[in-house]
Amino acid sequence: MKFPCRLDKFISHLAELPRSKAKAGIKSKLATVNGEIVTAFDYSINATDDITWHGNPLKFLGKRYLMLYKPAGYVCANSDDMHPTVFDLLDEPIMSDFHVAGRLDIDTTGLVLITNDGDWSHKITSPKHNKFKTYLVETQEPLTDDALAQLRQGVQLHNEKDLTRPAKAEALASYSLRLSISEGKYHQVKRMLAAVNNKVVELHREKIANIELDHSLAQGEYRPLTEQEQQL
Ligand code: URA
Repeated sequence: MKFPCRLDKFISHLAELPRSKAKAGIKSKLATVNGEIVTAFDYSINATDDITWHGNPLKFLGKRYLMLYKPAGYVCANSDDMHPTVFDLLDEPIMSDFHVAGRLDIDTTGLVLITNDGDWSHKITSPKHNKFKTYLVETQEPLTDDALAQLRQGVQLHNEKDLTRPAKAEALASYSLRLSISEGKYHQVKRMLAAVNNKVVELHREKIANIELDHSLAQGEYRPLTEQEQQL
């Protein structure tokens, strides 16, 4: 949302109403700006103005950045007919602008970033910006040194032109590794393990760029990012 902004547009956006309803309400004296009733629906407002609607304050919260501990069973989509979505886990006044910066599969757990800042999420997801995403991977077959070396160098994914970019792969036990990748191709980690004749049985994201999943969050909980975490 850009300021200055028309009053009817602001109310329609924040109260999630059709513009016609916002206009009708403004004409019926349901809106105030800085304590005064305003009946002109094209009245121009700024981000610092105090707006009320039906007597309740409508506050523009600006850019928001959230980290969520995604449980398995939730999809990273704004709506879904079959499954609950990560947005069902949030309790926020305006959800319509929010999107996920780097999706996880339904069965993957861990760090999901949610924002209404498209430029910021582009920096996270675009391979051009080279931001690493770190996963804990449990595998079906034991990990071999050769497989780890291949993951580090780059592997050929089915239906992709180029090899995957060099990754960081660290064995944690015979059947588990920490894998950091700087791309976000569809099902990338599962496909990378398939490319070295293995299979992912559990996947958890612990970090994106400098942002680590907060250990004090339980599955399904979220919190705003700190100022420092927002700096990419
Ligand atoms: N790679 C995958 O295969 N799945 C995810 O959820 C994330 C990365």
